[in-house]
Amino acid sequence: MTNTKNSPISSWAQWFDKAAATFDDPRMKIAYYKNGKTGTPYSQHAVEATHRDIFKKLAPARDASILDIGCGVGYFTKTHAKKVKLIIGSDVSLHMIRSARDLNPRGHFLVAQAYSLPFQNETFDRIFSYGVTQYLPSQPTLQKMLKEMLRLIKPHGRMLIGDILEPVHQSGRGSYNKTTQKGKRWWPKTLDHDLAKLYVSKQLFENFCKKNKLTCKFFSQHISGRAIPTPRYDVVIDCP
Ligand SMILES: C[S@@+](CC[C@H](N)C(=O)[O-])C[C@H]1O[C@@H](n2cnc3c(N)ncnc32)[C@H](O)[C@@H]1O
Repeated sequence: MTNTKNSPISSWAQWFDKAAATFDDPRMKIAYYKNGKTGTPYSQHAVEATHRDIFKKLAPARDASILDIGCGVGYFTKTHAKKVKLIIGSDVSLHMIRSARDLNPRGHFLVAQAYSLPFQNETFDRIFSYGVTQYLPSQPTLQKMLKEMLRLIKPHGRMLIGDILEPVHQSGRGSYNKTTQKGKRWWPKTLDHDLAKLYVSKQLFENFCKKNKLTCKFFSQHISGRAIPTPRYDVVIDCP
């Protein structure tokens, strides 16, 4: 967490932390919900459907350990904790983690950057990060995150990176603005400089998998009850 009381917001991580401190910011309607009040248009129903879909794609065994990178308020743990041995949620925002702990008093959460996680090599059977890549500051940061995931995953493990913005609509800064619901910017203006980096091509994952002898499969996103303004995809990566 960074002290943002008086300074302009300069990173998505900072913005999430500030917004999560109260959840009163109307922009949380799109970029994350805590309850019914802030839960539209991304409704509780859509959140649950999304997390069911992630669980299905991860297909963990009952004794599996799962790491959820950028876990937000911890809804995934709430719904799926009893189905596996362990779920650990990490998030860069202290206030998100506080909410996750409120929602899951017996859950396991920590504050950490997506690309620097305090675990030993080969700790988890499954690792996923959903709805986070578009908030990373750059593609090299995403590559760092992928490397960190690969360090932490066990042999034969599975990783999922989801809700990735596909670069089809990108035609320069501001294009995202036009495709957002009601055409309105919901992020602070000070974050406009990061917009061009929100989009990630599938090739980045293909190259990563080729280099590390992994296999990957892409899924176009289709979540019932969730209207999204731009095409997105998930990628599931299997380790040998
Ligand atoms: C759109 S929310 C997704 C929450 C959750 N994964 C879900 O699908 O319900 C994005 C989350 O990513 C977190 N985040 C953004 N940048 C991050 C970073 N560099 N490292 C870890 N978490 C980050 C935010 O704090 C926020 O909680």
